[in-house]
Amino acid sequence: MSKKTTVILSLFVSLAIGGTANAQEGTVKYRQGLMGAIGGHAEAIAQIAYGGVDYTDHLVGHTEALKALTTLVLTAFREEAITEDPPTRAKEEIWQEWPKFEGYVNDLEQAAADVAKTAAGGDVGAVAGSLDPLWDSCKGCHESFRKRR
Ligand code: HEC
Repeated sequence: MSKKTTVILSLFVSLAIGGTANAQEGTVKYRQGLMGAIGGHAEAIAQIAYGGVDYTDHLVGHTEALKALTTLVLTAFREEAITEDPPTRAKEEIWQEWPKFEGYVNDLEQAAADVAKTAAGGDVGAVAGSLDPLWDSCKGCHESFRKRR
């Protein structure tokens, strides 16, 4: 191979890798944004349901938003993207054990739908009592598929 060809080839290779890295960065930022939004609604729901903050009129808004966002989680992980910058906490096992990961997502979606249904009834105490399966789904998936800090 001539030197010129080698130079041109390595230029293409580094462009290709650079392109992939950028696409992966965006993918990681996107799914972290989605998970952060889910975390924000979960925190708001906990404050209203257990913390007694005076925003019971916001409870349906948060539980409906959470329900909608949980339906995006599975497809937000469809691309295998692992980056150091931003630091991802997603484990490679997500893509190696996809059916197990999908099982946790299904649990999350089901739990969030149940909480939203309970919240529509307007009883804050009932919502507090309905939250455990939701926390179990977060915890189960994070223990298996999210790296420790
Ligand atoms: C099916 C698996 C799964 C479920 C269920 C799940 N998570 Fe996560 N979560 C992850 C993974 C994987 C990450 C790491 C994403 C990354 O860093 O690329 C994450 C990241 C997060 C983050 C950090 C976002 C950031 O900025 O890095 C928060 C907050 C979070 N999850 C909250 C929750 C809450 C609250 C629930 C339950 C209501 C939940 N998650 C349910 C897999 C899950």
